[in-house]
Amino acid sequence: MSPKGSRYLHGTDPREQARLARLNDLINRASLAELGLRGGERILEVGSGLGQFARAMARLAGPSGHVLGIERSPEQLRGAMRAARGAGEARLVEWRRGDALALPLRRGEWGSFDVAHARFLLEHVPDPLAVVRAMARAVRPGGRIVLEDDDHDILRLWPEPAGLTPLWRAYIRSFDRLGNDPAVGRRLVSLLHEAGALPERNTWIFFGSCSGSPDFAAYVENAVGLLRGARRAIVGGGLLPAGEFDAALTAFDAWKRRPDAAFWFAIAWADGRRRGGRRIE
Ligand SMILES: C[S@@+](CC[C@H](N)C(=O)[O-])C[C@H]1O[C@@H](n2cnc3c(N)ncnc32)[C@H](O)[C@@H]1O
Repeated sequence: MSPKGSRYLHGTDPREQARLARLNDLINRASLAELGLRGGERILEVGSGLGQFARAMARLAGPSGHVLGIERSPEQLRGAMRAARGAGEARLVEWRRGDALALPLRRGEWGSFDVAHARFLLEHVPDPLAVVRAMARAVRPGGRIVLEDDDHDILRLWPEPAGLTPLWRAYIRSFDRLGNDPAVGRRLVSLLHEAGALPERNTWIFFGSCSGSPDFAAYVENAVGLLRGARRAIVGGGLLPAGEFDAALTAFDAWKRRPDAAFWFAIAWADGRRRGGRRIE
């Protein structure tokens, strides 16, 4: 059995990779707008997944910038490189395999980045503070540490699809079971502070939609895919009986055709800086 926290809840099968890619299509523009890159930045992307966001940052950083993507899973890394090649961007990002809890940076790279960014990563690690501390060491004095993550409690769907509330609670508990924090989003500013950085800003990135909006079905399908991918953890872990799980998921998928349905969710965002002149160890 894998030790607590070393298993990635969503897995990396092709269906899950396709979901992650579509999710990126839905949110990258909003994340990039918040990030406000100016060009020329050296950027560290931790937990780079399939790399769409790393590539999007690299495009904005331009030829005088640099993006290093760190990813633990070889399948995700292969997917990232395949997608980069397919887009004619094979050399845009430097990819490196490694664990966010033991960042594989070379001696001269520590303290050299202008920006360290992590999205949807801290919810999957047992010690998010250790990751944020390492990110703070990776940037230069005055460099930015940017965190985007989930606080699963804030999901609101109306009218509520039958059985969705117990299913969502069971999904949230599957993070606890792995030793990870499903509400890490609310802790982002505090994590920056605890890591010795100076928090500067927090906000929400709206991640919702409603019937009548062209992307509404994609939002619901992303959430359905997310839950389907966690079926083994939820049902196998005894958090919800299989029949309830399947019925709730079917009802949720059908819900996307309602003319009055609204999906409300948001991604927590916090931004801080490494203190000037002092090394954060
Ligand atoms: C939900 S995906 C998000 C990917 C990307 N940041 C994005 O926003 O699309 C989380 C990624 O973090 C990776 N991951 C999980 N734990 C990790 C760790 N300890 N070190 C490095 N990567 C990790 C997973 O393999 C997965 O690719």
